[in-house]
Amino acid sequence: MKQLAILISGNGSNLQSLIDWEKQGMLLAHIAIVISDNVNAYGLKRAKQAGITTKVINYANYTSNEEAEKEINEILPKNAIDLIISAGYMRILTASFVSRWYLKLINLHPSLLPSFPVFNAIEEAFNFGVKVTGVSTRFAESKLNAGLIILQETVKISNDDTINSLTNKIHNLEHEILPKTVNIVASNNYKILDRKVILNSE
Ligand code: GRF
Repeated sequence: MKQLAILISGNGSNLQSLIDWEKQGMLLAHIAIVISDNVNAYGLKRAKQAGITTKVINYANYTSNEEAEKEINEILPKNAIDLIISAGYMRILTASFVSRWYLKLINLHPSLLPSFPVFNAIEEAFNFGVKVTGVSTRFAESKLNAGLIILQETVKISNDDTINSLTNKIHNLEHEILPKTVNIVASNNYKILDRKVILNSE
């Protein structure tokens, strides 16, 4: 069973979705550790409630992101980690970290990449006036926003949507698309052709 490390910074609703899928026997991997850069992240409580090991990396204790990542890179092999899931991790991971974990580091983003590759993607899409936005999962790459797309699903923005109603739609979709992505990658149920990630089920 592939071992997962989940990187979080906040609420951890996507972590909770993965925990729930694993509890229901639907996740083709095991959540071995949750790592947060934020000691107050509610996601840490979710992990503890689920009996999952947690680790806080306080970036203020390090002189650089590289230094902080050195500790992460020590923790991961100690937990025999196969895949890293970045779900709302608000730190920029360095190019060396990302290339070391290439095709093993999955990122979740609340837009149809490459559109709105920004932290406040939902708000940017809403304010831009697009009719459709969505959720993407991708293999993180060191070149900014170049990651190969694994899954994408759309969300229609209706005229009576607000930022809040759209955010809820996006988060609900994230909670489905992320575990599905984990299952695809954990079971090697894909191949890569040029820039395309082709699912064996397609
Ligand atoms: C999600 O919308 C994710 O796409 C974005 O940050 C949010 C994290 O939410 N990068 P949560 O902490 O999983 O609830």
